[in-house]
Amino acid sequence: MKYQAPRGTYDILPEDQAYWRYVIETTRRVCQLYGYEQIDVPIFENTALFERGVGETTDIVEKEMYTFSDRSGDSMTLRPEFTAGICRAYAEKKLHGRPQPLRFYTFGPAFRYERPQAGRFRQFFQIDVEVIGSQDPAIDLEVMQVAWQIYEDVGIKGLSFQVNSTGCPVCRPGYLETLKAYYSGHTDEICGDCQRRLGQNPLRLLDCKNDPCQPFIEQAPQIVDSLCEACATHFSELRVYLDALGRPYSVNHRLVRGLDYYTKTVFEVWAEGIGAQSAICGGGRYDGLIEMIGGPSTPAIGFASGVERIILAMKHEGITPPEIPKPSVCVAYLGTGAKPSAVALVHDLRTQGIGTAVLWENRSLKAQMKHADRINAEYTLILGEDEINNGTVTVRRMTDSTQGVVPISDIVDVIQGRNALEG
Ligand code: HAM
Repeated sequence: MKYQAPRGTYDILPEDQAYWRYVIETTRRVCQLYGYEQIDVPIFENTALFERGVGETTDIVEKEMYTFSDRSGDSMTLRPEFTAGICRAYAEKKLHGRPQPLRFYTFGPAFRYERPQAGRFRQFFQIDVEVIGSQDPAIDLEVMQVAWQIYEDVGIKGLSFQVNSTGCPVCRPGYLETLKAYYSGHTDEICGDCQRRLGQNPLRLLDCKNDPCQPFIEQAPQIVDSLCEACATHFSELRVYLDALGRPYSVNHRLVRGLDYYTKTVFEVWAEGIGAQSAICGGGRYDGLIEMIGGPSTPAIGFASGVERIILAMKHEGITPPEIPKPSVCVAYLGTGAKPSAVALVHDLRTQGIGTAVLWENRSLKAQMKHADRINAEYTLILGEDEINNGTVTVRRMTDSTQGVVPISDIVDVIQGRNALEG
């Protein structure tokens, strides 16, 4: 039996780790720069939280959740996203008692049983940013800026914002009626999914990717024409701020997002050239979610971004991340008699913060020198009988082959350049 990674999952081999580290370190740095604090929530939660939070009729809840009964028979679900869990923590831990708004970031794996393709996985890794407790559209812009700056700082170009408003409980019901009235004249022409959506979740009609439905989406009434005064003002203020920063954006009337909790602003960032999955992030306001899951009425906004898609965009643009530092020193020893001293030297160097590699297995000096070359060591330290008897080490600088004998107590100074290496 040969085992394979489950469909829609992947291994991150050492050669790819530099991308991951760079994206995550950049995220941390940018989030700290904007005053966001890290929060972490469980990888699984009670299924009901996602059903209620994400929405019963969303694709995620209907067909994509990894749900299981634990040993006491409680229904649990691997998180398909972070927002519901963070809101649960906010309500449960009474974080509304702290000065508002709260600015959070987190990251980790999320799970959705989707059809795998480039940039779409069943286990994927999200960066997630949320601001809870403010309804100022300047916060919407700030959250959008966090996303933008992360992408800009890792070097991605060709980005644009897609924005829309999804209204609020005051204006959305009216819009949905208008939308349903429009679609009711076309029920025979739209796909089966859309016929179902028309009854269950009409906003999703605008999200359909099937060809026959496209002309109807094009002609559909637009939500921006139905917004109440508060939502219209919020949206136009956000656009003023986007203009003030000169950020490229398009108002995308089809942008309704795949989760039910959104109110007012929704947005995505699209990156060129990463194929069908061009959204590297998506987010928006969810002013009703916290109350819906049992907390006080609290406005909030956030976004999440798949690290796989960020890396895909980076690779597409030929961006290489900084290398992860490797050991700069290699220790070689001559014969098993020198091995205990080599064990001690390797330990000492590492304890003093010097990355040290060694090839055990009692290999020939030639093999050990080859290893030092392969790992690009700056120095090779050679221990033989003479060196051990004299309390010294032979130090070879690999870049120019200078070689000298150094008292063991001076090794660190030589490696760190405080003492010269004399050949
Ligand atoms: P979402 O649009 O479902 O929103 O996902 C956000 C991002 O996660 C996507 O733009 C994409 O980069 C990544 N993503 C989603 N599904 C997959 C997948 N199957 N494979 C790879 N990447 C994926 C949310 O998750 C919301 N919680 C965002 C949010 C936060 N809204 C408010 N706050």
